Amino acid sequence: MERISNIQEMQKRATELRLQGKKIGFVPTMGYLHEGHLSLVDAVRKSCDVLVMSIFVNPTQFGPNEDLDTYPRDIERDEALAKERGVDIVFYPHAEDMFPDGSLTWVNVEKITEVLCGASRAGHFRGVTTVLTKLINILKPHEMVMGQKDAQQAAVVTKMVEDLNMDLDVIVAPIVREDDGLAMSSRNTRLSPENRKQALVLSRSLKDLKKELNEGLDLKSALENARQKIELTANAQLEYLEARRYPSLELTDRLTDRTLIAVAVKFAGVRLIDNILVKHEK
Ligand code: PAJ
Repeated sequence: MERISNIQEMQKRATELRLQGKKIGFVPTMGYLHEGHLSLVDAVRKSCDVLVMSIFVNPTQFGPNEDLDTYPRDIERDEALAKERGVDIVFYPHAEDMFPDGSLTWVNVEKITEVLCGASRAGHFRGVTTVLTKLINILKPHEMVMGQKDAQQAAVVTKMVEDLNMDLDVIVAPIVREDDGLAMSSRNTRLSPENRKQALVLSRSLKDLKKELNEGLDLKSALENARQKIELTANAQLEYLEARRYPSLELTDRLTDRTLIAVAVKFAGVRLIDNILVKHEK
């Protein structure tokens, strides 16, 4: 496995690979890898010749009161896991090279970044779309894979690629969960044992909600039931629980062909998100 941190070197390598006719698959991450990240590598393995993973804790997507400083990091473990999973190149640029003093350019997707996580995390998605644009310019991938775990992020990035005619395919891979249902996240390690148990309310309430919808309960009542389960859980501070059309992210009070039910809950300062995508045929 190659390890590259220099931007120009990575750009040169990507150009070389393209000239050799290789198809480049790109897995963007902030590291502290778990099975959710590694499943993304599997999602592009068959269709691509060279698998590139970026590991970069992007300062521009963290707000002033967010967890940039405490975000977990372990580059040696990450490299070992990436290698074992068949990653060919790990790219880990330095923050001061990616965002030197004097950079003035931002990429901003409007409207769909103002709801859900965007409502409480001003500037977050602008940081995500800007860093991904830079990484795409550096790595020149044919395919980029995003996780459904961050459904809004996947919708925003897909829209950016479409609106800006970026010449690559965005693939969205399913959520990977722990055995008990909790969606895998680098932030899970920061939950206390008590909060870790309580956090199961996210996946459980979404699962129950899906079941209730399948049994014919209306969306509003099913959402209300899920809301109650979360609000009755000790230490759970509900930020949002909403049903939105996917991928336009407009609020909806009835099932459309694809409806995203998304939830964000904080446990003692650790913010967790989860979602389900409900398909509905008329
Ligand atoms: P990070 O949180 O490290 O996640 C990297 C990718 O892994 C994202 O596409 C995310 O949706 C996916 N992922 C995380 N947990 C997952 C799970 N349990 N199942 C499936 N996929 C999962 O998201 C980011 O980093 C950053 O915003 C980034 C896109 C790298 C830009 O900085």
